[in-house]
Amino acid sequence: MANVTVVDHPLVQHKLTIMRDKGTSTAGFRRLLKEISHLLCYEVTRNLELTTKRIETPLMEMDAPTLEGKKLVFASVLRAGNGLLEGMLDLVPAARVAHIGLYRDHETLEAVEYYFKAPGELDNRLVIVVDPMLATANSAIAAVEKLKERGANNLRFVCLLAAPEGIENFGRAHPDVPVYTAAIDSHLNEKGYIVPGLGDAGDRMYGTK
Ligand code: URA
Repeated sequence: MANVTVVDHPLVQHKLTIMRDKGTSTAGFRRLLKEISHLLCYEVTRNLELTTKRIETPLMEMDAPTLEGKKLVFASVLRAGNGLLEGMLDLVPAARVAHIGLYRDHETLEAVEYYFKAPGELDNRLVIVVDPMLATANSAIAAVEKLKERGANNLRFVCLLAAPEGIENFGRAHPDVPVYTAAIDSHLNEKGYIVPGLGDAGDRMYGTK
């Protein structure tokens, strides 16, 4: 079973309800996703290691807290991951970014990589993978596998909605990767949509169909 944190902050839950509503516009959906991603980012980075650096305030010198270690990486699973990525970068503007493109082969049902670009030294960085919908978890599992193949060894996964099936599958494949989500929904339907869910996150974000 995955190690799951449900970010049940009232503001997250309120905004998520508006996002689920099918009457919410594309612009509204995108704005809310960005706002929620700030709150999810706050939670997923809560225990980052700090060190101190010597600075001079207008009054005196002090050893002030500052983030330790190499810049963290946000890894966006294309295309819907970019909706979460934007807000995360608002809070951690110095973060590095990886993009991972995957499609599902209709015959084998395997996730096939069509794009991968990541910063170097993944083994020395915290890598936070972002993808709004943890449905079957096939693409999330494959994305984490690709990152591990390139050396990542300290990962977290952030989504907006998760299905119990996705959490189960992801936890079995990557028990070392904690999951952060705004909600765990009821189930997946026969088409692989999260129920009650919010529909296709990419389509709602970009106004496509
Ligand atoms: N991807 C989506 O965008 N929505 C779902 O419900 C499941 C997967």
